[in-house]
Amino acid sequence: MPNWLNNSLFHNKHRTLFGRPLQQSWAAIGTYEKLLQAHRDEVYWICEIGTGFGILSTYFALWCDGRNAPFLTIDNNRLFGRQTLRVLEFLGAEVVAEDCFSEAGHQRIASFITQFPGLLFCDGGYKIKEATTFAPLLPLQSIVVIHDYGREVKPVHMEAILELEAYEPWHTQSLEMKTKAGIFRRVQPPIEAEES
Ligand SMILES: C[S@@+](CC[C@H](N)C(=O)[O-])C[C@H]1O[C@@H](n2cnc3c(N)ncnc32)[C@H](O)[C@@H]1O
Repeated sequence: MPNWLNNSLFHNKHRTLFGRPLQQSWAAIGTYEKLLQAHRDEVYWICEIGTGFGILSTYFALWCDGRNAPFLTIDNNRLFGRQTLRVLEFLGAEVVAEDCFSEAGHQRIASFITQFPGLLFCDGGYKIKEATTFAPLLPLQSIVVIHDYGREVKPVHMEAILELEAYEPWHTQSLEMKTKAGIFRRVQPPIEAEES
């Protein structure tokens, strides 16, 4: 493999896609593609917390456009450029400039989630809080991808979120490929036994 491919395209922090900064590894992009293809008839919407530079958002927006599924991305900063916004809006994406935990941000996400399962992508500033806050709102079988899993988010944090369980074999395979993406699924939490 030539050096430029080996060093800069695959491993460099300054990885780009469409000439714009990509904040995911190639292994992660491949995993999302496989995951979405395998669940194409079960993912009715995608919600991304943390738009960042908007390149993963562009990928999600394209996927959703092809399936006639709504896509929402929310960020309390604006790191993406005019052209990226234009492409996202052209693809029908809902681009929300709010803190996801503010009343307005929470409301936008809550009203976006439908009664059908979808995919929630937690990649904002407080991923554990994002998962804890929004997992209970999701329809059963929804998929939750948590980025920076293993660093910012540890298994012990996820054990406390009873609505989510690791979605195997996706979760383990994803981590083995060093995607930093934990893959979970919305389940019915166990009913706690009442104290007598
Ligand atoms: C790692 S970047 C997202 C990268 C993007 N998902 C991608 O893969 O291209 C994290 C983003 O989360 C945003 N963020 C942090 N806290 C947030 C919050 N409370 N609500 C919404 N966005 C938040 C930051 O502004 C930043 O743009």
